[in-house]
Amino acid sequence: MDQVLAVTQEHLAPLVHWREPTLWYVVASIVFNPTFWNIAARQEYHRKVFTRLAGGNSRYGCYILAATIFSLGILRDHLYNVALEHQPKVDMLAYGEVKLLALVLGVFGSTLVVTSMYQLGIVGTYLGDYFGILMDQRVTAFPFNVSNNPMYHGSTLSFLAVALWNESAAGLFLSAVVFVMYCIALRFEEPFTGMIYAKRDAAKKTE
Ligand SMILES: *[C@@H]1O[C@H](CO)[C@@H](O)[C@H](O)[C@H]1NC(C)=O
Repeated sequence: MDQVLAVTQEHLAPLVHWREPTLWYVVASIVFNPTFWNIAARQEYHRKVFTRLAGGNSRYGCYILAATIFSLGILRDHLYNVALEHQPKVDMLAYGEVKLLALVLGVFGSTLVVTSMYQLGIVGTYLGDYFGILMDQRVTAFPFNVSNNPMYHGSTLSFLAVALWNESAAGLFLSAVVFVMYCIALRFEEPFTGMIYAKRDAAKKTE
């Protein structure tokens, strides 16, 4: 009887430890980061908060925001790794094919992130348009010919890759949270940057 019970419990081992606090620390970080940079960028646009912090130099102001966002990203990645250490591995993901998929997604995801940063530069990557530092024209070269938002898609794929590599259902859940947060962020960012560029184009026409 005891043996049967043990087998049943083994079979019903939870896929995710929902009560594990480290899981919720990283959820908080995933939700906080894009919320923070959207609010910060709009504060810059309307009140020049970072430009003023940098003594009136908008490029340096953008570097301050970039360093902040970058650091918050490092913290989030760290919290993600800690969270996965406290989560069970699930048998369903313990296959060589899953590891291979994780590698492919990881390489593809980081390629998207690194090449889009290379194309946009630091200012272009970190919301320079809100500082009035606009791109002359839309970048259409790789990776922008395979994704409209390679930074977000690449980052999401990297989370997914780490989840699969670690055989972690919690990691899959967290990757979904990342994806949803980026979708929400884009809902705010795309119309706003569209407005910034429309204003610039209108101003050019009247010149
Ligand atoms: C995107 O650009 C790269 C590099 O120029 C090229 O190799 C690739 O085929 C292009 N992809 C699409 C979908 O056009």
